Amino acid sequence: MNPKIKYSQKTHNCGEVRLKNVGENVTLFGWVHRRRDHGGLIFLDLRDRSGLIQVVADPSLSREAFKIAQKVRGEYVISAKGKICRRPPETENPNLPTGEVELRADEIRIVSKAKTPPFEVEDGIVVDENLRLKYRYIDLRRREMLSSLELRHKVVACLRNFLNQEGFLEVETPYLTKSTPEGARDYLVPSRVHPGHFYALPQSPQLFKQILMVAGIERYYQIARCFRDEDLRADRQPEHTQIDLEMSFVSRDDILSLVEAMLKKVFLLINQDLIIPFPRMTYDEAMRRYGTDKPDLRYGLEITDLTPIFKETNFKVFAQVIRDGGVIRGIKVEKEFTRKQIDDVINLALQNGAKGLTWFSYLGGELKSPVVKFLNQDEIKNLIQAFQLRGKNTLFLMADQSHVASQVLGILRENLCKQLNLVKSNNFKFLWIINFPLFEYDEEEKRLKSHHHPFTSPTEESIPLLDSEPLKAKANAYDLVVNGVEIGGGSLRIHLTGLQEKIFSLLGLSPLEIKEKFGFLLEAFKYGVPPHGGIALGLDRLVMLMARRESIRDVIAFPKTQSAFCPLTKAPDAVKEKQLRELHIRLR
Ligand code: AMO
Ligand code: AMP
Repeated sequence: MNPKIKYSQKTHNCGEVRLKNVGENVTLFGWVHRRRDHGGLIFLDLRDRSGLIQVVADPSLSREAFKIAQKVRGEYVISAKGKICRRPPETENPNLPTGEVELRADEIRIVSKAKTPPFEVEDGIVVDENLRLKYRYIDLRRREMLSSLELRHKVVACLRNFLNQEGFLEVETPYLTKSTPEGARDYLVPSRVHPGHFYALPQSPQLFKQILMVAGIERYYQIARCFRDEDLRADRQPEHTQIDLEMSFVSRDDILSLVEAMLKKVFLLINQDLIIPFPRMTYDEAMRRYGTDKPDLRYGLEITDLTPIFKETNFKVFAQVIRDGGVIRGIKVEKEFTRKQIDDVINLALQNGAKGLTWFSYLGGELKSPVVKFLNQDEIKNLIQAFQLRGKNTLFLMADQSHVASQVLGILRENLCKQLNLVKSNNFKFLWIINFPLFEYDEEEKRLKSHHHPFTSPTEESIPLLDSEPLKAKANAYDLVVNGVEIGGGSLRIHLTGLQEKIFSLLGLSPLEIKEKFGFLLEAFKYGVPPHGGIALGLDRLVMLMARRESIRDVIAFPKTQSAFCPLTKAPDAVKEKQLRELHIRLR
């Protein structure tokens, strides 16, 4: 804690008292962490943000202090005045930084009483998360939660420092604005003064940061809150914080190197010296080898393509799929699976869209499977070779169109990793995914959708494909992945009005819609727009990984539940009829 802060009454922070303070008269304030009554003596562990110290109430020193110590309960706020003494050697506590000393109290005051807390102020408690969120102020007293907030603070300070030194300007952009398309639903805010009109909370500062480039800011950053109404998961919140960057006159590699240098600095905060540059992998390769665009490289279980082996096969299921332009792909588990385990894997595949899954077990040099009778000797030999089978193995093979095979095998891979506990290392495996497709096909709406967002530029080579085969076009887009978590994404932007209009129209927007939604951006581009690009890192996810927590809720002071509810404030809440009327809203 900041030693410069001086309170008129509090002389020391509880957790900072040491042997050098022995003999000093001090006044401490804090919460009663624990109270132990040893008959003749009462011991209070007094806690503030800096840590714990033992306070001793000894009736032979002060009857009054002892009497009050008898009344004190857990989480009472008290003050304790007295002399810091060295503890008798046999009572020292090596687990506590203050464990060599104690405060022998000659005065104890109750500052405020506390109800019995709904759970213990201890690390590693097993408590329903809703209860923790309802009583977040108690939850945040726990060391592990406090450490997360402290780490988050240090990360942000370090990022700001780094970016300031690199010549970035921190600029705030509005929260009450127009829709920014990032693939989620908008949170809307009704306008009182413009009946029937709504602001949208930004899904990201994307449009404003591009306009700041037109304004000549050249290097912008913001620690920006972003709002997205989407289905929540452990690593998604309705509002999250981005470290948002944009730069002019840069190449993709300039942006990637800057982020690498920045993260190298940041990870030194947790004593991790990252090796930069980070490895890069194209989107296509990631999908082929790992079945996901955010592979966790801490474990293997790579997907193997077996299509060439089965080109001439008599096994009808495989032959048909290959004839239809599909692929045969599989993964190997270095283990013998029971029939039940195999069935579970098959069911998981079927639930996730596979039409079937073929399995093989390899034991004592022999390949076994209900379908082995359909394969010829060459196919069997090649299969053994492709997977380099040795010892005991189980194989799972899937025949389908490439994207379905990737998706399903990616899910199996992740699941098998969990089941077999394959993540052994605690290291951070960074990976850039590059060359994303520009578009994807939305089956529901039967139209093209941006893979990243509509402002992402196609690669030079892809421009001729826009009309003929838009789904083959690649984008100047990149994601940063750490241990299977997407912590950032960005792109070089389109800065040519004509190309931007073309992309909008490929996305199915009419000229009128383009004008209504993004007219201001296109208009800005007419007044001298520099080539530009940027990235946004998810701060919550970054800190979650650094703090080695499983959920971003553990690194956000006041997060929402999986159903976007705040148990502390009970938001969202109903509002008064009068307010609705002012906002010109009638509920259906
Ligand atoms: P993108 O949508 O990829 O890019 O978001 C950037 C990063 O923000 C984090 N993130 C989230 N974290 C928590 N909860 C959420 N709901 C959530 N959504 C996203 C992720 C993600 O990688 N404007 C672009 C960036 C750009 O092109 O410069 C954008 O927002 O870690
Ligand atoms: P069937 O002809 O549907 O009874 O399938 C014969 C075998 O092939 C079964 O073991 C199925 O699980 C397997 N199988 C069916 N479809 C696929 C597929 N798309 N990919 C891999 N295996 C499949």
